[in-house]
Amino acid sequence: MWNNAIEGSRWGQRAGKPEFWDEQVDWFEELVQQSDRAGMIMSRIKIEPSYRVLDIGAGPGTTAIPLAKIVKSVTVVEPSSGMLARLKENASKHNLANITYLPKKWEEVEIGKDIDMEEHDVVIASHSLVMKDIKDALEKINDAAKRNVYIFIVAGRRNEKEGSSLWSLFNREKHGNRPDYIYLYNILYQLGIYANVEIIDANHNMRFPDLDAAVQHYKTWMNVSGDDEKKLRLYLSENLVKENNVFWLKHKLRTAMISWRKDVVMA
Ligand SMILES: C[S@@+](CC[C@H](N)C(=O)[O-])C[C@H]1O[C@@H](n2cnc3c(N)ncnc32)[C@H](O)[C@@H]1O
Repeated sequence: MWNNAIEGSRWGQRAGKPEFWDEQVDWFEELVQQSDRAGMIMSRIKIEPSYRVLDIGAGPGTTAIPLAKIVKSVTVVEPSSGMLARLKENASKHNLANITYLPKKWEEVEIGKDIDMEEHDVVIASHSLVMKDIKDALEKINDAAKRNVYIFIVAGRRNEKEGSSLWSLFNREKHGNRPDYIYLYNILYQLGIYANVEIIDANHNMRFPDLDAAVQHYKTWMNVSGDDEKKLRLYLSENLVKENNVFWLKHKLRTAMISWRKDVVMA
């Protein structure tokens, strides 16, 4: 079912390809900053200054940068060269020399070679589990962690209760729904890992200089063309909010934090 949902959703088809992310760095970094994704995550995870942390699919450094400021070391796994370049720029801006970079997919990381078993106190994967062999990926995550694992992933269908939302305008049937937390929760259960789940109404705020820029962004992101573009423009003209000369589209991204402690959950 996980594989079908990955294959059947536009997200699943694109997000697992590192080269796709190479082209998404600027707006993605802006999105996570404007949505305070780092704050949402940092306020929930348990961290000590002595910890080593592993960040899988770290992107531009959403969590890796704030973590590196307070923990002993951070290892990032990031297969997109564009994202990795931005992460390194950000690390150097903040004078952080305690980050180790693994420019690969998580599936390619070998325990015993790239990292050691239980070398990292905490493992984080935020919106980055898009691989097909998900059972292997989760088992490897569990093996890599000494104390705690935190996974962030969408919960439920996009804005299913909000009939007028951007996604429900044209996206649902065409693009399918990406696999969400309930798949991972059940697969973890099958692995004997009894995880905790917290559902979070996370911010998802995008900022644009004008209406045209917003239309252009969503046109590409959602693969909209023809008559649908008119619907998109109308929706954005009605829903963008102008504040201090910039235009905002503010959504909530219902997000699940799946977490477990190594010492309490193994069957
Ligand atoms: C949506 S971004 C999330 C970035 C960051 N963790 C955050 O929450 O803001 C997904 C990231 O996962 C990376 N990624 C995609 N497939 C991956 C894989 N198989 N192993 C590790 N990272 C992967 C992408 O390159 C991209 O940087």
